Amino acid sequence: MCGIVGYIGQREALPILLSSLERVTYRGYDSYGVAVLNGHGIEVFKKVGAVDVVRADIPFKGSTGIGHTRWATVGAVSERNAHPHFDCTKQIALVHNGDIDNHRDLRERLAAQGHTFTSETDSEVIAHLIEQKLSDGAELVEAVEAATGELEGSYAIVVLEQTTRRMVVARRGSPVVIGLGDGETYVASDAPAILPYTHRVIYPEDGDVALVTTAGVDIRHNGSKVSRLVRTIDWDVSQIEKGGYEHFMLKEIFEQPQAIRDTITAYPAGLPRLPVENPDHVVFAACGTSLHAGLVGEYLMAGNGKFTVSTVVASEMAVVPFNRPSAGLAIAISQSGETADTIAGMNGLSEAGFKTLAVTNVRHSSIARLANGVIYTTAGPEVAVASTKTFTTQLVIMAMLAARLMDGTERAKSLREAIRTLPNKVQQTLELADEFKSAGEDLARFNNMFIIGKGQTRPVTLEAALKFKEISYVHAEGVPAGELKHGPFALLEANTPVLALVADDAHKMRMLTTLREIKARNAPIYVLTDAPMHDVEDVATRVIILPKVEAGLAAAVFTVASQLMSYYCGRAKNLPIDRPRNLAKSVTVP
Ligand code: F6R
Repeated sequence: MCGIVGYIGQREALPILLSSLERVTYRGYDSYGVAVLNGHGIEVFKKVGAVDVVRADIPFKGSTGIGHTRWATVGAVSERNAHPHFDCTKQIALVHNGDIDNHRDLRERLAAQGHTFTSETDSEVIAHLIEQKLSDGAELVEAVEAATGELEGSYAIVVLEQTTRRMVVARRGSPVVIGLGDGETYVASDAPAILPYTHRVIYPEDGDVALVTTAGVDIRHNGSKVSRLVRTIDWDVSQIEKGGYEHFMLKEIFEQPQAIRDTITAYPAGLPRLPVENPDHVVFAACGTSLHAGLVGEYLMAGNGKFTVSTVVASEMAVVPFNRPSAGLAIAISQSGETADTIAGMNGLSEAGFKTLAVTNVRHSSIARLANGVIYTTAGPEVAVASTKTFTTQLVIMAMLAARLMDGTERAKSLREAIRTLPNKVQQTLELADEFKSAGEDLARFNNMFIIGKGQTRPVTLEAALKFKEISYVHAEGVPAGELKHGPFALLEANTPVLALVADDAHKMRMLTTLREIKARNAPIYVLTDAPMHDVEDVATRVIILPKVEAGLAAAVFTVASQLMSYYCGRAKNLPIDRPRNLAKSVTVP
């Protein structure tokens, strides 16, 4: 987590740094800081809060600088711990994204060598380590190479040296991109941050150390000069603007029909070749919302008669819970492609003998580079911290994968038909926004809620609950309908609403029975359903009828409905929808 940026060129660095920082703020927003190099040395400014919320008048002039927006890991949220960090002599300023595992040992050693620290962070240790290498006689690039060689953990750093006016970037395990301009060069944690300035970028690889100049970059790897491809970003600046919507989340919810359409049409000749075409076991590994997409994938493929399928929480993969498969396919799902737990889980599965396939929204992301194969969702950049359009596009890929792996079956045929209709079904769901608004605003009265479902709506209960937690600060729990009576019933009362996701399938009568039992406990019932049934009206406080999607893919419309309900619930409470407290979009620490 944390966002880093840098600029070296002919223009004033500060406005470029601040606006680039705004665009990586979703990576962390508890404090920010900038350092600009000029005739006075390196001037630094730090503040607690998000860059666009507590913007300050910073008088710095100069055409070279670095910046950082923080999601605290080591050390409390404070100006002292905000980046950039310095060495003892203030010759070196550094911003860091990542996590240094051996920072305590390094700090002790450097302190014994006479270094004085001013923050509690692991990041400051890197600045002093570079200072030590410089004082041993190295020049900046060599010093960064030597210092990073001693780091355990992950880092993407931008280092500024006052005397030589040089800027160096290095990375391992944390993302960084270098943007090429005309006589100017940009650095950022990811490409959208620098999209207004350039679409031509280089992605340094793990272990690369790059000297960044106004003319471009010189990259070294293991001490030797290397060249990396210059790539063109096809995202548009308008995609990272609010475009008249009150929040990015709302805009991104409404972009879903197009995002789904784009994801379907991105592979006109079908999905690319899979690392294993005929697996005996498929396992999904992911975190958070992406994990829920995996559960939908598992549901769509379950009981297919050809291969077994399961889903694992990527962060629980310390011990791989599988025997060595003869033809195992591990599908790692990550919208950012940078989630540390998912990457570690995928690597664990690879070591256990699985071939790996990444499903991600970000081209050239770490996971895309590490997996044996990759399939992209084409959702466009997602700015709001909460995943919305990236989730529904993941569902599309899940359905396409299910159809591919079960090719030749009736299920595959009906899934392909359901995928084709999905953009319109999602559009029709969005047209019910007023109904979701009124239900969402109604739910703002409550602090706790249950969300129940069965079969195809079961993964959506988890995703909807996550959205209510993040966006509306409601303690929502997704529970399989059948499990309510095995304990959670004890919590049902007039102040604990139940949101029921009732799909028009074999389970709907069972769901109805559960709703009657809930009604008998006085809990208010809200129902989302694609199965119009008179009996539901008798028990529910409110019923919203959704368009029907066949082939077990109803998860998509139930999700869109619950996204809007949580959005309007959070908005009614005046919450920071696009940046919920304590969160960050890209979780690059384990
Ligand atoms: C919730 C959300 C998170 C992410 C999770 C994994 O709205 O966005 O739960 O889904 O942190 O992130 P990715 O998909 O980037 O691996």
